Amino acid sequence: MELHILEHSLKVASIEKEGIEICTHGLIKLAFLASKTRCKFFSLTETPEDYTIIVDEEGFKELPQSNLISVADSTWLALNVVSGGGNASSSQPIGVTKIAKSVIAPLADHNISVFMLSTYQTDFILVRERDLPMVMHTLSSEFTLFRVVNGETVAAHNLGISNGFVKPKLGMPRPIIHPLSSPSNMFCVTSLDPDTLPSVATLLMDVMFYSGGFPNNVLFTSASGELWKMVRIGGQPLGFDECGIVAQISEPLATADIPAYYISTFKFDHALVPEENIQSVIRALRTESTAQ
Ligand code: ARG
Repeated sequence: MELHILEHSLKVASIEKEGIEICTHGLIKLAFLASKTRCKFFSLTETPEDYTIIVDEEGFKELPQSNLISVADSTWLALNVVSGGGNASSSQPIGVTKIAKSVIAPLADHNISVFMLSTYQTDFILVRERDLPMVMHTLSSEFTLFRVVNGETVAAHNLGISNGFVKPKLGMPRPIIHPLSSPSNMFCVTSLDPDTLPSVATLLMDVMFYSGGFPNNVLFTSASGELWKMVRIGGQPLGFDECGIVAQISEPLATADIPAYYISTFKFDHALVPEENIQSVIRALRTESTAQ
C-alpha cells in the first residue's frame, strides 16, 4: 500500500456562526471559482457550533482577519492512503475503517495527534507538519511513502529519525474517554463531478450560507441512497494535542467490520456509520467507554 504525503501546508480554522457573513466573499471564491484563487485544498464543515475550514496557505489568504475566526496554531499536512490497484474484493471496508489498524492505531501508539477528514472518495489524515519525521518513521514499515512535490509524486525517503524518547504504547487497551452523543438527523454522503458545480451552485450556496437543506428530490433519489447516522465525540472541545481519539473510535468499528466516515472539526470529532448499525455501534462504543 502507498501513503502519499500531500504538499499543501494546511490551516485549520473555526468561523463563528455570526462570522459567516464576512467570509462569504472568500468562501465563494474557494468553493466555486477555482480560477480566481491558487488554493488547492479546501474543506468546509458546518456544525451547530461553528464552521470549520481547512485550507492551504493560498486559500487562507482569502479569509479576513477577525475575532470571529480562530486558527489552530500548527500547520498540518494531509496524508492519503492509496491502495495499489487491486480493488477486486466486493466487501471493501469504507473510510476510516480501512485505515484504522494500519495508519490510525500506529500513529496513536506513537503519540502523534491527527485530524481526520473523510470524504466520499477518500480519507485524509492530517498530521502536524512538525511531526512528519515521526509519522514517516512510524508508517514506513507498512507503506511505501511518496511525497507530492510541485504536483509530482516522488518517492519519499525516511528521514532517518528513530523515535527518540517517545515510547510507543503498543498493545495498551484504548478505552474511549470522551462522551459520545448521537443526534437524530440522518446524513447522506455524496460527491459531485466538478463539471456539474455551476448547475448546483445556487443550491450549495443556500446550504452553505443560509442553512437551507437540500430539496428532497436532489440527493436522495439515487439508487444507492443509503443514509448515515452520526456519533459525535467530545463534551468539551477536544483541542489539537490529544492523540488516540480517532483510534479509540475507529478500531472497534474496524474490528466489527462496520464502514465509517470520520470528520474532525475545530471543536469535536464526528463518526458517520450506516443507519442500520447505529444501535450496535453505540452499544459497542459505550462498552469501550466503561470497560476500564
Ligand atoms: N487529535 C485527535 C486524535 O489524534 C483527533 C482530533 C480531535 N480534535 C478536534 N479538534 N477535533 O485522535
